[in-house]
Amino acid sequence: MNVTVDGVAQPARPGQTVAALLIAAGQVSWRDTRTGGKPRGLFCGIGVCFDCLVVVNGIPDVRACQRVVADGDEIRTQHGAELPEARS
Ligand code: FES
Repeated sequence: MNVTVDGVAQPARPGQTVAALLIAAGQVSWRDTRTGGKPRGLFCGIGVCFDCLVVVNGIPDVRACQRVVADGDEIRTQHGAELPEARS
C-alpha cells in the first residue's frame, strides 16, 4: 500500500496504524497545540489522550493511534485546531 504524508509517498503495511506508520518513518511529533504550538505525537497509544491528532483525507482530528491506514490515504500533519468552529 502507498500513502502520502505531507505530500511525500510512504510505503505502508496492511493493518498498520497511522501512528505506527509515522513512527516507522522517523516522525515523533505530527501536530502542534492550538496554544503555544507545542509538538505532540504518540502519547497513550490507546485512543485516550488525543495527543496524536492528524488530518487524514482532509478530515482533521483523526487519532493516529486508532486509524488503520488504507491504500491511497493522504495524511497531513495538523496545526492547532482545524475543526471549522475552532478556526479564527
Ligand atoms: S496517542 Fe493518545 S489518543 Fe492516540
